[in-house]
Amino acid sequence: MPGARDPPAERPAMPRAFADDPSDGEGVGPLAIRYFMNAAGDGPSLGRIDWEAGDFAVLATGQTIVGELLCEAVGLRARERVLDVATGSGNVALAAARRRARATGVDFVLRLLERARERAAVERLPIQLCVGDARRLPFLDGPFDAVLSAFGVMFVPNAELAASELRRVCRAGGRVGLASWTPNGFIGRQFDALERPPRSPGRSDARRLWGTEEGLHQLFGSAADVRVVPRSLLLRGDSVERMVEGLRRNLGPMVQVFARLDAAQGRLLESELLDLVRQFNVAGDGTALVPADYLEAVVRM
Ligand SMILES: C[S@@+](CC[C@H](N)C(=O)[O-])C[C@H]1O[C@@H](n2cnc3c(N)ncnc32)[C@H](O)[C@@H]1O
Repeated sequence: MPGARDPPAERPAMPRAFADDPSDGEGVGPLAIRYFMNAAGDGPSLGRIDWEAGDFAVLATGQTIVGELLCEAVGLRARERVLDVATGSGNVALAAARRRARATGVDFVLRLLERARERAAVERLPIQLCVGDARRLPFLDGPFDAVLSAFGVMFVPNAELAASELRRVCRAGGRVGLASWTPNGFIGRQFDALERPPRSPGRSDARRLWGTEEGLHQLFGSAADVRVVPRSLLLRGDSVERMVEGLRRNLGPMVQVFARLDAAQGRLLESELLDLVRQFNVAGDGTALVPADYLEAVVRM
């Protein structure tokens, strides 16, 4: 199995369907998911197995506004070719298709792509879906007008490799659009809490680079045209406890961490997560209303 640092040398040719116009409805149906898994191997953290646990699709339904805003931020036009990298259950790809773009979603978790396919079928949206790894995207160089990712590439362990793949598949003059949790916002802090053992101060972390303007310049070059908008997504739960329960059940990386802990460690982590939600909760009525800060960014290629 090649390692995450291997050069992305051999690639399958772009699947024929991606060269076609999907606006005729092709891409919706049982054959829509294509298997071009050209895995680069799971990295040291947050590999495929983490995201296969739980059911991220349940959480994603509360985040659809992020994809809608991202598509507006890159100024999508009808018929543009759009790739949604680490699409999960398809939030961004579906938002692009709603704007009459020719959308393709790629992810390495088949079960989440199945959810995307179901959602596309209900809305009669012609999207293409593809199993593949963000570290070695199964596409030729430059076929896409816009390459987007919401809370997806930020979890790839090798951020430089992920950024170079986004650049490679985007045409010259195209746009890369990103939504990434900020390091000190609610979700950034939540992922810190999941690190076992805790991160030593000063150790670099791929996830943090995507959530700051400086980090994006590090990934795309100091001269890159990077425009950022700080945003906040409001997360809602019936109560603080129900919110943590939902995360424990559905957020794959959290499910995986809890599975590795003994009972005492599990209780400790649970109380840390409850405290974190209480700290950010602004509801004041017994429910949970948690602003989760993220950075929306558009990089001109
Ligand atoms: C937090 S979810 C976001 C999903 C979706 N973009 C959304 O906004 O709802 C992270 C997604 O990244 C995917 N992912 C993480 N690393 C990946 C990789 N190396 N290649 C492909 N997908 C990856 C996971 O499978 C998961 O679907």
